Amino acid sequence: METTASSLAFGGLETSEKLSAGQIEEKVNELLAQLSLDEKIGLMDGDYPFWEGFHEMMGGGYGDHPWVAGEIKRLGIPGIRFADGPRGVVLQGATTFPVSMARGASFDTELEERVGDVIGKELRALGGNFFGGVCINLLRHPGWGRAQETYGEDTYHLGEFGAALSEGVQRHVMACVKHYALNSMENARFIVDVKADPRALNEVYLAHFKRVVEAGVASVMSSYNSVNGEWAGQNKELLNDILKEKWGFDGFVMTDFMWGMRDAKKGALGGQDLEMPFQNLFYRGLKQLVEQGEVPLARIDDACRRILRQQIRFAQGRNPQDYTPEVVASPENRQLAREAAQKSIVLMKNEGDLLPLKDVKRLAVIGRLANIPNTGDGGSSRTKPAYVVTPLQGLQEAFGQEAVTFADGQDAEQAAQLAQAADAAVVVVGFTHEDEGEYSPRKRDARVLSILPEPPTPLAAAILDALREGKPRPGQKGGFSPGGDRERLSLRPEDEALILKVVAANPRTVVVMMAGSAVIIEAWRQQVPGIVMLWYAGMEGGRALADVLLGQVNPGGKLPCSFPASPGQLPFFDREAEEITYDMWHGYRKMARDSATPAFPFGFGLSYTTFDYANLRLASSQIGQDGTLEVTVDLTNTGKVKGDEVVQLYIGVPGSKVERAPRELKAFRRMTLEPGETRPVSLRVPVKNLAYYDPAGGWTVELGEYTAIVARHAHDEAALQASFQVS
Ligand code: BGC
Repeated sequence: METTASSLAFGGLETSEKLSAGQIEEKVNELLAQLSLDEKIGLMDGDYPFWEGFHEMMGGGYGDHPWVAGEIKRLGIPGIRFADGPRGVVLQGATTFPVSMARGASFDTELEERVGDVIGKELRALGGNFFGGVCINLLRHPGWGRAQETYGEDTYHLGEFGAALSEGVQRHVMACVKHYALNSMENARFIVDVKADPRALNEVYLAHFKRVVEAGVASVMSSYNSVNGEWAGQNKELLNDILKEKWGFDGFVMTDFMWGMRDAKKGALGGQDLEMPFQNLFYRGLKQLVEQGEVPLARIDDACRRILRQQIRFAQGRNPQDYTPEVVASPENRQLAREAAQKSIVLMKNEGDLLPLKDVKRLAVIGRLANIPNTGDGGSSRTKPAYVVTPLQGLQEAFGQEAVTFADGQDAEQAAQLAQAADAAVVVVGFTHEDEGEYSPRKRDARVLSILPEPPTPLAAAILDALREGKPRPGQKGGFSPGGDRERLSLRPEDEALILKVVAANPRTVVVMMAGSAVIIEAWRQQVPGIVMLWYAGMEGGRALADVLLGQVNPGGKLPCSFPASPGQLPFFDREAEEITYDMWHGYRKMARDSATPAFPFGFGLSYTTFDYANLRLASSQIGQDGTLEVTVDLTNTGKVKGDEVVQLYIGVPGSKVERAPRELKAFRRMTLEPGETRPVSLRVPVKNLAYYDPAGGWTVELGEYTAIVARHAHDEAALQASFQVS
C-alpha cells in the first residue's frame, strides 16, 4: 500500500532532454523486452489487492495519495500515479477552482488552459503523474447528478474545453479524458444500456472525445454504462474500432474505477488496456487467457506499449525546481481560482441596473448557502482546500463587517425584516452535494457484485456482505455524500418562498444561485430584479461574487446549458432506467427544433455594458470542401465600462438532405473591450467540421448553401447572418 511521493513522480524514466517520437518507441521496446508476462500483466492493473484497496479507498482514503498502477521498481518504471479532479487536484491542500460547468460558462479556453497548467503542476508537486479529471460528458438533461463535472450541453464547446484543460495539464503530467462514452446519467450508471444510432453517437456524443484525442490526451477512461448492448469498458466498437483504429489514438484506455469492466477476455480483446485501481479481473484471469491462446500476447504487448509510451513521453525535459511544495495553492494559483470564478459568473437578469450595487450602506445577506463552504460534489471530485471563502465572507470583506447583516433564511419572517432594514438584499440559494453529485449505491446490484474476487479475510467478507445488503460497511468513515441525479429542477419550495418574501420586503434584491446545471426558476424570476448564476465557484468564490456585485469586475460569463422554462422542453430522462435511447435532440438543438422558448438560452449572459455587432463579412462566400470558413464582425462596446463579450458563431444548413439542428455552435471567442472601443472579431471553421455522419459513408460534407449566424446566444433573433456555398 505504500506510495512514494517523489517530486517528479516519473522515477527512473526521467530524462532532462526531450526525446523524439522514435526515441520514445525505442525506449518502449527496450523496456518491454525486459518484462516477464507477469510483469506485463502487472502494468495492466492497479497495484493494490482488491479488498485491501477497496477498504482504504472507500473508507475515506481516496484523496490521501495518488493511486498507483504498474510500478516496476527493478526497471525504474514509476507506474501511473492517479489523482482525480476536475475542480482541482483532489489531494490535500490543492487549489480548488470553480467546477467545470462554471468554467464552461467562461467560454474562455485560454483561461481553461491556465487552470489545467496549475492543476498539472500541483499534481506533480504532490507526487502524481496522471490527472483523471478531464470530464467532457455531454449534459443531456440538467438533472444529471454529475453535470457540474462537465462543461455543458454542446459538443463543440465540450471538445474545446476538454482540449484546453488537457493541454494545460499535459505541460506537466498525463491527462485522462472521461467517461467514454454516453455517460450522462448517474443513479443507473452501473446498469443502464444507452442506445444511440450512428449519427447521434458520432456527431453528438463522440465528436468532443475525438477532439481531445486529437489534442494529444494520454489516456481515455471508459465509462461504467453499457453502449448499444455492451459495457463501455469492454466495448470493442467504442474502444478498438472507433477510438484506436478510426481516430488513431496511441495512448491507453483505462477502466472507470472498480466496476468498469465485467469480463477480462472481452475487456482485453475489446481494447481495454488498464483495469483500475485494484487487482481484479485482469489479475485473476489474463495470464491464463494468454496461455490458452484466447488473448494473443500481441494484445498484451500492445497495451503495455501504450502505457509505457505515455509514461516515457511525460518523463522528459522538466525541471524539478518547478515542482516544489510551495507551488501547491500558491497565491498566484489562488488568484487564478478567483479569476476563473469571476469569469464564470453569469448575470442573468439586471432590471433597472440594480447591479453593480450602488449606495449600499447596509447589505442583508440571506440564505442557507450563504455561509457554508459549497464547492460541489462529495464524490470522487471532492477537493480538500485549506479554506473556502463563502459568499457571506466575500461580501463582508468587500463591504466591511459592520455593513453586512446575515440570516440563514430558516426563519423567513426574520430574513424579510433584515432585508427591509437594509439598502439591498442578496439571497443565496441552490443546491449542495446532498442534492446532486456522484452516486454510489450502498446496496449493489448482483450483476455488479458478480465481478468481485473471493473475499480472502473476514473483513473482506463483511464488506461484501454489506454491499449485498446495503448496510454500512465495516470501518466506513466519510465516503461519498448522497449526491445522485438531482430530483428537482426547480429550487426547494422553501427557497422559492424565501425569495418571494425577501423581494417583497426589499425590491432591491439579488438572487444568487449555486448549482451544477440549469434550474427552472419560473416561480419567481419575474418578481426579482437581479439574478446571478454563481455555480459552485471554488475556494475563492465568495470574493469573486463580491467583485461582481460591487462592479470591480464586469460579468461576462454565458450559460453553457439552456435553462428551460418547463420540464416539457427537455428530453426524456429516467434516473433509474436500465435502458434508454439518446438521440440527437437535447438542449438548444431540441428547443430550436421544437420552436420552444427557454427561460434563458444557451450562450446567454448580461454585462454591465452593452455591445453592438455590425458588418458581418465572410473572407469568401464560395468555399471548397477542404477550405475554411472565415467570418468577421465588428464588435463595439457601446456602454460606459470595460467588459467582456462572447461572440458566437452558429451554422445552419437550410437545404440539408438530412435532419439537422437549425443552428449549431461551431466557434466562439471571448473578447475584452474598453468603453467605446470597436474591434473586428474573426472566427474560423474548417469546412470539414460542418460534416454530418452518414451511417453508410462516414463523415460527409454536403455541397450547397450554408448560413453563418453570429449571435449573442443560441436563440438570438437579432443575429447577423450571411450565406455561403460549399462546392
Ligand atoms: C468515477 C470517475 C473517477 C473514479 C476515480 C469513479 O467512481 O466515475 O470519474 O475518476 O471514480 O476516482
